[in-house]
Amino acid sequence: MNFHKTHANYPPIHETKPITINDLVVINKKFMGGGMSQSYSAIYIIEHYIHLHKFNYVVEIGSQKGALSTYLANNASISEQFIFETYDIQTKDWFCREYEGCGHWFHKLETISPYIKFFKLDIFSEEAMTHIKENIGLYKTLIICDGGNKAKEFNTYHKFLKKDDRIIVHDWPAEINMRNISLDNTIQVDNPWDQYCQSLGSLLMPFRKV
Ligand SMILES: C[S@@+](CC[C@H](N)C(=O)[O-])C[C@H]1O[C@@H](n2cnc3c(N)ncnc32)[C@H](O)[C@@H]1O
Repeated sequence: MNFHKTHANYPPIHETKPITINDLVVINKKFMGGGMSQSYSAIYIIEHYIHLHKFNYVVEIGSQKGALSTYLANNASISEQFIFETYDIQTKDWFCREYEGCGHWFHKLETISPYIKFFKLDIFSEEAMTHIKENIGLYKTLIICDGGNKAKEFNTYHKFLKKDDRIIVHDWPAEINMRNISLDNTIQVDNPWDQYCQSLGSLLMPFRKV
């Protein structure tokens, strides 16, 4: 039998456009097969940021499709060096496989790692704020503001942080910039990490509690 003729009747292979360096800085990419509203550089920026500062508690505000959440969940579960929580007010994208949602996989990970949790909760609810405030009191904290109102998230949550905790906002300066955040003498831009983010084409903007 001619195996090639009976089993390998493939359609023509289409040419794909070559990936350029600019593709690496575009947001809304797939990562690990799931949807992520970040550029790829967010992954290695956050990886190094967590490693350098040895955070014990990382909170993502806005899980959406969940590739960033699932990456951070794997990081927390593999290293067992920090607790990771992600919050979203809805789960439409989270569970939608056609829309690259990762929720089904995140919840499998939750069953085997005690270090990670997804909460379907409004980040401004009393419940969420009380829980996160309590954990900030116990652990060195990083908060990533990537929900529906980044300025309000930053202005609310940076007030709960301790010295040397950090807070990163996403979509800087497109959705949030110096004009709509309230800075006081307890919080400042985390230099040189703001420069690193910019030079790597990321819209992440880090701040340090002083
Ligand atoms: C830009 S997406 C998050 C992207 C995700 N962090 C990523 O990197 O792929 C924003 C998400 O914030 C959620 N959101 C909006 N308002 C919220 C609130 N008050 N509390 C929690 N999540 C909220 C939205 O439902 C949406 O899924």
